[in-house]
Amino acid sequence: MADFIGAVDQGTTSTRFMVFDHDGTEVARHQLEHEQILPRAGWVEHNPLEIWERTETVIGSALTRAGLRPSDLGAIGITNQRETTVAWDRHTGRPYANAIVWQDTRTDAIAAALDRDGRGDVIRARAGLPPATYFAGGKVQWLLDHVDGLREAAEHGDAIVGTIDTWLVWNLTGGPDGGRHVTDVTNASRTMLMDLATLDWDEELLGFFGIPRAMLPTIHPSSDPEAYGCYRLGRRQGEIPVAGVLGDQHAAMVGQVCFEPGQAKNTYGTGNFVLLNTGHEPVRSSHGLLTTVAYQLGDTRPVYALEGSIAVTGSAVQWLRDQLGVISGASEIEALAGQVEDSGGMYFVPAFSGLFAPYWRSDARGAIVGMSRYNTNAHLARATLEAICYQSRDVIEAMVADSGVALDLLKVDGGVTQNTLCMQLQADVLGTTVVRPRVAETTALGAAYAAGLATGFWSGTDDLVANWQEDRRWEPTWSEQQRADGYAGWRKAVDRTLGWVD
Ligand code: G3P
Repeated sequence: MADFIGAVDQGTTSTRFMVFDHDGTEVARHQLEHEQILPRAGWVEHNPLEIWERTETVIGSALTRAGLRPSDLGAIGITNQRETTVAWDRHTGRPYANAIVWQDTRTDAIAAALDRDGRGDVIRARAGLPPATYFAGGKVQWLLDHVDGLREAAEHGDAIVGTIDTWLVWNLTGGPDGGRHVTDVTNASRTMLMDLATLDWDEELLGFFGIPRAMLPTIHPSSDPEAYGCYRLGRRQGEIPVAGVLGDQHAAMVGQVCFEPGQAKNTYGTGNFVLLNTGHEPVRSSHGLLTTVAYQLGDTRPVYALEGSIAVTGSAVQWLRDQLGVISGASEIEALAGQVEDSGGMYFVPAFSGLFAPYWRSDARGAIVGMSRYNTNAHLARATLEAICYQSRDVIEAMVADSGVALDLLKVDGGVTQNTLCMQLQADVLGTTVVRPRVAETTALGAAYAAGLATGFWSGTDDLVANWQEDRRWEPTWSEQQRADGYAGWRKAVDRTLGWVD
């Protein structure tokens, strides 16, 4: 048996390939960024061909750097930025347009219309999602309505569509030459098109968006030895089974071994995503959270989650770097924010894509409030880190209200968890212990786990639980009064952002 499992983690800003051993220890990695295409206010696009090229490059270079051969990998898993949507020609592999990224708000009219005539409630009940620009269904409709010839090509069976997992698996498994057109239950649960109970596309929901079923991929469990085919590397190098596919936040759940109802994790990436395992039954939120499929391992019953999705957290740090030039590298923010004791009364609400959970307000836009002449870049840096933590508190409050269970410990992962000031602020803002695992790249690890479970590399979830190890924890230090005052200020600042666009 091969000694390792690989994972592609195709995220919003970069693509990485990581290799893990049986203990879940990283043995190789390579990562490349891709272009963020911002053609108009509110629009965010990626070039699908660039993403595919980056994917092949990072797989090859991670293996070469670590002196590994493809045959050293028992399987690979795929995990991806969710909701981002691509349409392409099945005969040529040519995309009809750039991918519309999950953060893109061009479908706001489509989303608003759904809530005017009752279709929104059907989507809520069946797909577990509030109509919003975030999800893939509206993006497919937009492409069909605006890209010349696409609807016709779809009706003739030439055009196909998918989220990034689908695009990558199709290319990895041969592209026009027999590539598999597939997705997994977690990615499909982000479209507004899948029925959470049947785990299949729903005809009525497809009708709401005018999407021909034939252009959609088939839906499979997240961990499956057959469904996803093999990465074909060419005659000399052979092939590697693709045995797991999970949306990135679902992969982080698996990587954090949140297999029991009541277990939750918070992943700090471009955005933040808190997921709470709710067991085998989908739980409906009355506080603005999403109901989603957490994972389905093989032919076992699916496990569901409540999710608090936050659009802009790490990308607010990038905004300070790229648009304002306040820092020259993301890692500088910790030192800058550390120069001051607090944010000096300043709050930054980075509602660049409207506000996601628990507000779901596409009419919100970003605001920096509470400033006086006293404030400096250091206060802005600190307010940016606090915004990450306050937004996390917003969704965790909703989770506690929905479940009635207080969270006494929060498992965290993702790049920003290396920022110890931010993690201390998170414990302070929540009044909860925050714990980071030894492997903070739990997204890639979770995808590797899904693939390795499918191929028998790991024998079951107990193996994975045994691999999880704590690295560091942060305890709250703020007084209750400080916590309450800080949060009250945040809620006031959020109010200022609502209703900004018509
Ligand atoms: O739903 C969007 C999410 O999957 C993006 O994750 O890590 O690329 O910010 P990330």
